[in-house]
Amino acid sequence: METKSIRVAKGLERVIVDDTAISSTDSKGNLVYRGYKATELAEKKSFEEVAYLIAYGKLPKKAELHEFSSQLIKLSRLDNSTIRLLKSISGNAPKLDMLRTVISGMPLEGNDEHKALQMAARMPALIAYNVKAIKPMKSKNANYAERFYNAITGIEDKNLAKYFEKLLILYTEHEFNASTFALMVTASTLAGPQAAFTSALATLKGPLHGGANSEVLKYLLKFKSKEDAIRFVDKKLKAKEKIMGFGHRVYKIKDPRAQFVKLQLRTLSKEKGMYALVEYAEAIEEEMWNLKRIPANVDFYAAIYMYLLGIDEKFYLPIFAAARSFGWIAHYKEQVASNKLIRPDSNYIGPKGLKL
Ligand code: CMC
Repeated sequence: METKSIRVAKGLERVIVDDTAISSTDSKGNLVYRGYKATELAEKKSFEEVAYLIAYGKLPKKAELHEFSSQLIKLSRLDNSTIRLLKSISGNAPKLDMLRTVISGMPLEGNDEHKALQMAARMPALIAYNVKAIKPMKSKNANYAERFYNAITGIEDKNLAKYFEKLLILYTEHEFNASTFALMVTASTLAGPQAAFTSALATLKGPLHGGANSEVLKYLLKFKSKEDAIRFVDKKLKAKEKIMGFGHRVYKIKDPRAQFVKLQLRTLSKEKGMYALVEYAEAIEEEMWNLKRIPANVDFYAAIYMYLLGIDEKFYLPIFAAARSFGWIAHYKEQVASNKLIRPDSNYIGPKGLKL
């Protein structure tokens, strides 16, 4: 008997493909991690607490947090074969390509859950490998965000690392985004966590997804005035070109992450005495809303935020990856715990009946 397939929207737009207990979003601008508002978590919790919440489904008790934090440090250490693999990759390779290659090839230990945590825990060390002129941290009790921030900037500053931590928290999880969905597809074939993380990293790279944050910085740095910024928007829209850092598949009014980072930027820019980029950004956001009703997404304000935090642009996308890897742990587990091969049907429109 022939079974009938159903046609769904291109790009799976507004199509619900499965259940998840990890996070939820809606078009009005809500983002909830395991029942808690993501922005409230960013305000009040540490990265370790949120990563634990995402990966294991509940906020950790004191002893669990201590154990998890120690495990992240322990698992972040790079073994000799991983270092050899890192050294074999050209120093000019984009950081995300390096990360994807090493993640796909480094030796991992234990069961699938342990392997996934090991990959996530190692990402900051992999990203920061070969960063020059970094002094060892004075603080013995530095947390994940402080260590990560220090490893890529050389700055040891609790206040700035706290800003960085909030962004990490907002990047941690985002239900069935493209990279997570790629991870789910790979996980559904039972290829294992290393293959699934590799798919996710490869998918995150594109400018329609994680690659947007560095693209934003590239154009913002060219402006000399607010008028330049507005002219840029008008010109791009006239040419029917996309402006990176705007638009979202789910958020049609506001991206809560972008609005949170924008508020943080008001104090960060005061502390740093750097106002120009924020001024241009707010002008662009207003112009985009007035002309197209398209809201800024997280990558728009994240780019300026990271710039003000003194982070080199080459790290922007890998930072997104490192934070999101804790969401990937959760989605990997969720997929295999209730697995069904993800394999859609197609509608053939090519030639038929050709003879050789
Ligand atoms: N600049 C100008 N116009 C835009 C933009 C933009 N950034 N985004 C969407 N539009 C227009 C688009 O041209 C289309 O117009 P029309 O209906 O006249 O053809 C309409 O809005 C719908 O856009 P779409 O591309 O069909 O929407 P989508 O849901 O398929 O795409 C998106 C979402 C994020 C890929 C898209 O908004 C985009 O390309 N944005 C720029 C890249 C970007 O900033 N990506 C980061 C996303 S947030 C971080 C993450 O989670 O990855």
